[in-house]
Amino acid sequence: MRRSALKLGISLILFVAIDAFPKRLERSVDLNEQHKLEWVCICDDLWPLSYILEIEPLITEAKFKGRVRINVTWTEGADKISLHVHPDLQISHSNVRVTRLNDVHVSDDSAEEPKAPAPVRISKTERNPKKLVIHLDQMLRRNVICEIDITYLGNITTNGTSDLFMNEYNDVNGQKHSYVATYLRLNNARKMFPSFDELQYKTKFQLILRRPKNMTALSNTPIEKSVAVPGEPEMMQDHFEQTPEMTTYQLAFVISDFESIVPTKHANTIDGQELQVRVWGRKDYVEALKDVPDKIITIVNYLQEYFNSSIKLAKLDIVAMPTYTATKASDNWGLMIFKEGELSSPLVWNMAYELTYQWIGQYITPYRWVDASENKGLNSFLASMTTMDINPDELKGKWPMNILYSLYYGYGKAFGANRRTGIIRDAKFAKIELVFRMFYYILGKEDFKTSMRHLIQSQSTTWPGVAEGRGTRSFTAIDIYNSMKYVATKSGSLPRPLTIIQIAETWIDQERLPLVTVTRNYNNSTITFSQKLYVRETQNPLNSWESSYRWNIPLVMQSRHKWNNSDYTPKAWLLKSNYEQNLNIRDIDDKDSFIVVNPEEIGLFPVNYDSHNWELLADYLQSPTFETIPTLTRAKLLHDSWNLAYADELHFKIALNMTLFLKHEKSHVVWEPFFPMIDHVGRRIEGSGVFGKFEAYLRSLLKPMYTEACESPQAGEPSWKAHLRGLARYFLCGAGYEPCISEARDQFKKWMADQEPDKGNPVANEFICPVFKWGTDDEWNFGLERVIKFPRDSPERKQSERTYLLKTLAGCAKDPAKIERLLYVAITRRADFTDADIHLIFTMLTGSSNGYTTLFKFLYDHWDTIKQRFAGSMNLWTGIVRSATGFFNTQEGYDMVSKLYAERRSEFGNAEPFVIEAMENIMREMKWSEKNLPVIDQWLTDNLVKPLVIDKDMQQYWKTALACPNREINDATAPAS
Ligand SMILES: *[C@@H]1O[C@H](CO)[C@@H](O)[C@H](O)[C@H]1NC(C)=O
Ligand SMILES: *[C@@H]1O[C@H](CO)[C@@H](O)[C@H](O)[C@H]1NC(C)=O
Ligand SMILES: *[C@@H]1O[C@H](CO)[C@@H](O)[C@H](O)[C@H]1NC(C)=O
Repeated sequence: MRRSALKLGISLILFVAIDAFPKRLERSVDLNEQHKLEWVCICDDLWPLSYILEIEPLITEAKFKGRVRINVTWTEGADKISLHVHPDLQISHSNVRVTRLNDVHVSDDSAEEPKAPAPVRISKTERNPKKLVIHLDQMLRRNVICEIDITYLGNITTNGTSDLFMNEYNDVNGQKHSYVATYLRLNNARKMFPSFDELQYKTKFQLILRRPKNMTALSNTPIEKSVAVPGEPEMMQDHFEQTPEMTTYQLAFVISDFESIVPTKHANTIDGQELQVRVWGRKDYVEALKDVPDKIITIVNYLQEYFNSSIKLAKLDIVAMPTYTATKASDNWGLMIFKEGELSSPLVWNMAYELTYQWIGQYITPYRWVDASENKGLNSFLASMTTMDINPDELKGKWPMNILYSLYYGYGKAFGANRRTGIIRDAKFAKIELVFRMFYYILGKEDFKTSMRHLIQSQSTTWPGVAEGRGTRSFTAIDIYNSMKYVATKSGSLPRPLTIIQIAETWIDQERLPLVTVTRNYNNSTITFSQKLYVRETQNPLNSWESSYRWNIPLVMQSRHKWNNSDYTPKAWLLKSNYEQNLNIRDIDDKDSFIVVNPEEIGLFPVNYDSHNWELLADYLQSPTFETIPTLTRAKLLHDSWNLAYADELHFKIALNMTLFLKHEKSHVVWEPFFPMIDHVGRRIEGSGVFGKFEAYLRSLLKPMYTEACESPQAGEPSWKAHLRGLARYFLCGAGYEPCISEARDQFKKWMADQEPDKGNPVANEFICPVFKWGTDDEWNFGLERVIKFPRDSPERKQSERTYLLKTLAGCAKDPAKIERLLYVAITRRADFTDADIHLIFTMLTGSSNGYTTLFKFLYDHWDTIKQRFAGSMNLWTGIVRSATGFFNTQEGYDMVSKLYAERRSEFGNAEPFVIEAMENIMREMKWSEKNLPVIDQWLTDNLVKPLVIDKDMQQYWKTALACPNREINDATAPAS
């Protein structure tokens, strides 16, 4: 049930090779605007001016013929030319020519007259794995222009979606159709043509493609002319219009027999032209794409207005490609390629995200690959904003919490924990997106828009003293912040001398988040704010380096009497520079009214209050007018209070009081984060005497949400319903809610009655755990038998079914005798259980105190046998020691582990560090338990005496809201035959 770091299926796709990419041009982030003027030449002072590229795919041979002509010039004298060339391109010496052109820019130091075009003799050509080096016979002066002309042969990639690739698809009649396309990002252009294949070389391209007559060719620009190929009546040659200046990776083409559809709506005219949009797909798929063109027009019109700019091209072609295997859409300027299913989806976010790249990422491009992270974060934010405006239901209740809450969990881990999981790297893009969201609130909606317009517009102007093409329309992260600075300065939205960059740096560069503590002084009406590093998991005290993290934090505030959903400008700032003193301001409301800091999760930080303010909040939330506080803020208050109690920053009684309003809470946005929290806290108190009461409390809270299992959860209902239904059932069944258990056992009976139970499993996964947890020995044994007898090579049954059964047998069982039996069987029956199975069992047993306690006893009682059995497998040995010792949280557990350690000290081998770590862990957990368990116990006792009264209308509300959609739908619509 743990939340993953992924957000709503909008995956955090990384630019695969950012780290691996050459960092020659990478400089520190605090680079100033001057970078464009201090040009660092990397390639023999040579500069490409224009390309003419001819490609002729030879589909039957999976090869292509190519000819590239490049006009180049030099800023210094030179006698050689280096080009990026992939080793697969076949180039013979005699096919390389260099011609000096006549229109030499005569420079001051040259007295010579311009000469007529003349060949330049080549003394030798050299290949290395990355480059082709052409050595010239003579020294060329600066500003001479030459045309390089190379004909060559290359391979078309047939096993993937990268560089120049081809693939085929079958139509409904089983006939094969081929197509050829490109994906040149990040640096695959060199596999298609010798080139200056790096970001900073922006050049105009003229593309000439040969294609069969019955196919169509698409590229970044429209076709200028199509001409017949002499002697080849089946072939045509398309000449595309010259592109604006762009980098090599932006070039793209598709040659296919796909068909196109056009929107019924028009794109608004902007910059004097109307963007022509066409959507392409194979004939049999076009129907599935029919709504896509209009959706694209809606988004294009939105973004055109937002950026006050066209994409600066006349047309945009968008292709649904069968068997497209790259993880990311190929979003080239004027030509985008998607997986079929991705393009036909009715959802807006993904299309908005990719389209945003036409402006920020294609029209203007990242200056270096490091700037691509800010580009990605910014575009994700813009896509979310666009979606919230165009199709709010798609993100409502999901964004930004899905990413934000995983960041709170991820960044709240103990130090070092993240290094093992790699979460930091994945989280970075998500964090950047939310930092832009924060700026959106700080600057205000209109000013943020102005800053985006400013970014695009300021990039369109050429820098003085910089030759055409160099650094044109390319931005760094700093340029984005400077555009925001431009509006912030004008509107005075930041306190002097704080700058946007100073704010951004503290959030983006520090891989942690702050916790803000708000203390109201009710006697003199002041509020004190302080910040510190947020750590959610218990760990050893922070060292001075760890506790020195500080942020520039916007303090947006609302209060009971002055709640204003249209004003989210910061009332004050908690600054990095004055961390020694706390910040004091006058209180914003009277002492009987609550205040809320950081409503709507504007900044990425949890907030703690003094206990009186928490009480005011808990009381207000239970009052009939509680919905004055918007849903996302209600969710935050609940979520923060539990996480702070979990982190031992807040008295647990307060966190529990904050759940009381759930008796009338109807928003799933508030409920969803509640489930991971009860899971986390449940794990911590499981095994103590309090846990039974905790389960009873959960049952009373969740009971109204119990619904029968649905057969087809996706039948046209919002996705949150199925999700909430599933969560409620999972926790209710886990907490022993009787109707749930009997339903599960009824289902399970069908399987037990089956004559051939190993042919298939008729029981839905959700029923299995409750049966293994609350059911009889027979039921559990039946499950074990199914694992042992699971058919190995049956095409009907997937190994994942067996894995699921094994996981639930171990993870759900409460009864020590069952667990012992499983361990015994798994360890002794080598033919039936692999090492991976055994490892899985150990891991699953750590989820409950019965699990790890039984595992510990098993290890203790059979020490020698187990040690011998695992002698050849270090993994299993460390695995069992870790799982058996690392999860206790009581004195009794501590005593057991230290006794074992004392007795067997010299025998642990490689597993020794884990026992030591385990003992330290248990000590810390015990401190938490000693402090919090009595509080939780007392609170639950008090509140279970007078059982929670759920509002009557809530029962009815959940019954309707969560009812299975298929029930009604089946009655209403007769199946189409
Ligand atoms: C190079 O410049 C010459 C003269 O302007 C032009 O005719 C030729 O087409 C150019 N070649 C390329 C590759 O742009
Ligand atoms: C690509 O072409 C080179 C020759 O240039 C050849 O040696 C190589 O095997 C080819 N690779 C594939 C995958 O066909
Ligand atoms: C495709 O084949 C080439 C050459 O055999 C290999 O280097 C490359 O990894 C393969 N790519 C995929 C996606 O399998």
